[in-house]
Amino acid sequence: MKRAIYPGSFDPVTNGHADIIFRSAKIVDELYVGVLNNSAKKSLFSVEERVNMLKELTSDLANVTVTSFAGLLVDYMCEIDANIIIRGLRAVTDFEYELQIAQTNQIENKEIETIFLTTNLKYSYLSSTIVKEFASYGGDISHFVPKQFIDRIYDKYNIKNKR
Ligand code: PNS
Repeated sequence: MKRAIYPGSFDPVTNGHADIIFRSAKIVDELYVGVLNNSAKKSLFSVEERVNMLKELTSDLANVTVTSFAGLLVDYMCEIDANIIIRGLRAVTDFEYELQIAQTNQIENKEIETIFLTTNLKYSYLSSTIVKEFASYGGDISHFVPKQFIDRIYDKYNIKNKR
């Protein structure tokens, strides 16, 4: 049984995240999508809102569970008995950071493997930060996020979706 976790902030979930979730759910037997609950980091959406968005997005996928976790990822993985971490790699700029995290996690627990999925070219430019920047100025985010979340994102900035 291959049980994996795709951890992240997902603030908000983007089409790039969705693409990684859908593809990795086909590779592993069970996929946990783990929203990091980090009270030290200011986020646009609460953990509960992010978990709910991800649950909506994956409601048709029987092997996907959405949860949140706090503290070290390796500790949470012991709790849920998972030993694979899925991460998306967009560009070379992601690589150094991701390699550092993957190697640190493996030193903490040598049973843990990190699998990197290269982001679909369509989304290689995309990040939650870019989505927030565009949305905060009323920019068009329809190519960036699943359509059911567009209004929820604008609402956070008190912007009416004119599109
Ligand atoms: O979407 P993000 O913000 O790039 O995700 C980063 C995440 C959640 C994968 C990373 O910050 C993480 O695993 N945090 C949990 C705390 C932890 O285990 N830190 C040690 C990693 S070296």
